[in-house]
Amino acid sequence: MPARSIDTAGPEETEALGASLAEGLRDGDVVLVRGELGAGKTTLVRGAARALGVSDPVTSPTFAIGNRYRGTGPLVSHLDLYRLGALDGEEPDLLADYLGPGRIAFVEWPPDGEAELAGARIAVTLEHAGGDRRTVRVEHLTPDDDLDEEKKG
Ligand SMILES: Nc1ncnc2c1ncn2[C@@H]1O[C@H](COP(=O)(O)OP(=O)(O)OP(=O)(O)O)[C@@H](O)[C@H]1O
Ligand SMILES: [Mg+2]
Repeated sequence: MPARSIDTAGPEETEALGASLAEGLRDGDVVLVRGELGAGKTTLVRGAARALGVSDPVTSPTFAIGNRYRGTGPLVSHLDLYRLGALDGEEPDLLADYLGPGRIAFVEWPPDGEAELAGARIAVTLEHAGGDRRTVRVEHLTPDDDLDEEKKG
């Protein structure tokens, strides 16, 4: 699977990276966003959401598992599953409001082995790299990304 790593020197650069990532996204896409506490997951999603036309403030979901924002195209879903743990026994369509056609979804703390998230097209992993530096790895999960790879040149 193609993957690339980029270092960012501050939150603005991580937002900009999120924005450039957003350019390659299409309706129904799911992006997994991994990394430790404070690694910059929400920061990256904020940049992506801006690029998708969201003007509301993008903050961590607190009272629900996710937020949904109106952008210029599909709805932009932002989920944070940190407190959720495994989804066993949860409402089966807990995620249904956030994923699927008409939406582009970003999922922080995706649990492993979650069927609904298995169709995710991109995984982003952020790591602390000292001070305000972060290493951001972008991995394409499905083979039909060859097209995007070509576009990148
Ligand atoms: N290069 C960078 N990229 C992203 N954030 C950075 C960077 N340098 C410093 N920061 C700061 O680190 C913090 C990242 O917070 P953010 O909420 O985005 O992390 P998170 O990974 O979503 O955390 P959580 O696991 O709690 O949801 C922000 O305060 C941001 O300003
Ligand atoms: Mg967060």
